[in-house]
Amino acid sequence: MILVTGGAGFIGANFVLDWVAASAEPVLNLDALTYAGNLESLGSLAGNPRHRFVQGDIADRPLLDRLMAEHRPRAVVHFAAESHVDRSIHGPGAFIKTNVEGTFTLLEATRAHWAQLPATEKAAFRFHHVSTDEVYGSLGPGDPAFTEAHPFEPNSPYSASKAASDHLVRAWHHTYGLPVVTTNCSNNYGPYHFPEKLIPLMIVNALAGKPLPVYGDGQQVRDWLYVKDHCSAIREVLARGRVGETYNVGGWNEKPNIEIVQTVCALLDEMRPSAAGPHARLITFVADRPGHDRRYAIDARKIERELGWKPAETFETGIRKTVRWYLDNADWVAHVQSGAYRDWVATQYSERASA
Ligand code: NAD
Ligand code: DAU
Repeated sequence: MILVTGGAGFIGANFVLDWVAASAEPVLNLDALTYAGNLESLGSLAGNPRHRFVQGDIADRPLLDRLMAEHRPRAVVHFAAESHVDRSIHGPGAFIKTNVEGTFTLLEATRAHWAQLPATEKAAFRFHHVSTDEVYGSLGPGDPAFTEAHPFEPNSPYSASKAASDHLVRAWHHTYGLPVVTTNCSNNYGPYHFPEKLIPLMIVNALAGKPLPVYGDGQQVRDWLYVKDHCSAIREVLARGRVGETYNVGGWNEKPNIEIVQTVCALLDEMRPSAAGPHARLITFVADRPGHDRRYAIDARKIERELGWKPAETFETGIRKTVRWYLDNADWVAHVQSGAYRDWVATQYSERASA
């Protein structure tokens, strides 16, 4: 079996669902169920013997040792993290705890498990670290896209903590020989995305007739990838990626934020028109994110050249599916908007009242 960490979060849940649909190999899913973890996303797997869920922390070494001894995973796919840049600005401590100390503890438990495997299982073992393009910093308008050789220049507490975790993973390979692979991916969007991030927040707010808060001038550029494409890239790298290598994953879809918001509004106008008028009337420019990275862009030629991976969705097909999914899954959206989530939204946006 494989051990997945953070499999109740946005990307982890999509990965687990796709894995169970495509493979006979069972998944052990370890997730602490922070505010971002949601078992409802995995509801379709209830009673499925190929999915076993354990609520727990990746920083809990005795728990990790017990799970490794009991289930003897042949791979670890590590998604668990604090993932939201704005939260990292308000409270960086949790990011150091999970992304740095948690990854360290997971690496140590994995190393102990891997060290005692028989030679053939040891050689086939993989630790797959799921990371982000944000470790590379910010690009100017004419700069070439990030390659795997781009220096690390993280600018937020979130990206600094992820960069630290990438360095730990690299060091555990070079020093101890742990067979690791790392993927650095651009912005994901799609089903089960928590509505604190740009695209689901805009959909949810627009449907509720609430303001659509665009930071600064809205000209920050992100490179958007449909989440199922990220999951297929991880499967390819896990199966055939070269040990010790990093692979950039991206959608070749660079777009300024304001264009993303306008696209969401136009799709909602088509699929769920509002009697009050076009949804774009709700767009509101608010104060910028401190230290806001201006542009990310991924050069994904290495993964295409070595593994033949390319995204299946264009932005146009992926965003249409995404808006449709949120319209069709109003219960999921309602449940995810718990008291804790509403408190966060109140704190976050009361400080951004004026542009
Ligand atoms: P998410 O915030 O939606 O989910 C994170 C999951 O990790 C949650 O289920 C949470 O409960 C769990 N978790 C948090 N702390 C934990 C701990 N200490 N122990 C066990 N579980 C814990 O995040 P996501 O957007 O799905 O991102 C998953 C991974 O992919 C992260 O490592 C992130 O850095 C990376 N990534 C995300 C994106 C993106 O656009 N969302 C892009 C590139 C890389
Ligand atoms: O690039 C990969 C990263 O993408 C991942 O590593 C992170 O885990 C993930 O959260 C995401 O980070 P971003 O900061 O790019 O995503 P977010 O959805 O928070 O913001 C996207 C852009 O939209 C960013 O430029 C900030 C802007 N924004 C965001 C929110 C929530 C707004 O203008 N208004 C908003 O209300």
